[in-house]
Amino acid sequence: MKGIVLAGGLGTRLYPLTKITNKHLLPIYNKPMIYYPIQTLVDAGIREIMIVTGGNNAGDFLKLLGNGSDFGLKHLNFTYQAREGGIAEAVGLCEYFAEGQKVVIILGDNIIERSVKKAVSRFKKQKEGAMIFLKKVRNPREYGVAEVIGRKVKNIVEKPRRPRSDLAVIGVYMYDNRVFDIVKTLKPSGRGELEITDVNNAYIKEGLMTYEMLSGGWADAGESIDAYNDTINFVRRRGAYKK
Ligand code: G1P
Repeated sequence: MKGIVLAGGLGTRLYPLTKITNKHLLPIYNKPMIYYPIQTLVDAGIREIMIVTGGNNAGDFLKLLGNGSDFGLKHLNFTYQAREGGIAEAVGLCEYFAEGQKVVIILGDNIIERSVKKAVSRFKKQKEGAMIFLKKVRNPREYGVAEVIGRKVKNIVEKPRRPRSDLAVIGVYMYDNRVFDIVKTLKPSGRGELEITDVNNAYIKEGLMTYEMLSGGWADAGESIDAYNDTINFVRRRGAYKK
């Protein structure tokens, strides 16, 4: 199973911090933001990782991360998203890298306290389809929101005005290799992007989506300036990622 970290976009919700640099290079306490999602993949046993960059200062990722030696990796892969085409478009750039395997994708601004290794192992055994993680939140309007019935996800709505639940879809997604075919069928959303929520709803329609409730802390550091600062305080308090 291969890993993908998505670190493109303009990070406009963090302006002016992101006016001249890429959001994922900003500090979260004692490390650049992108260190955390990379560490999450490495802790889950993933060794082959692609970084998708874009927006400002894309070249700085190479300088910062090199071949991944800070994470005990032998090499890292990089690719470039030329425009603000959305999360699903960025995923589509990794088809060649995936070589027919399953993939675990993490958004470069998602900071997760506990290991997802067990869920990754469960997904490795899942014959086909996709797996997402859900977390109860106070502000579901800022996220993709899932409606679940028992063990089934009924649907996901991206940033709903009137959320039907308080279950946010966090930025870690596991897919079989068919994800690349699904991405090719997507149409841009109202904001002109290929939405990851549309990928997830395609799997839901086919009855091939499973979910796990995420235990421990989770933060989307790019959601707002307040979320960014809360994330820094959270990492500091919990002593997360001391290594
Ligand atoms: C993205 C996804 C959203 C998800 C969130 C998690 O939103 O579109 O479904 O809940 O990440 O961090 P973004 O923060 O890119 O607007």
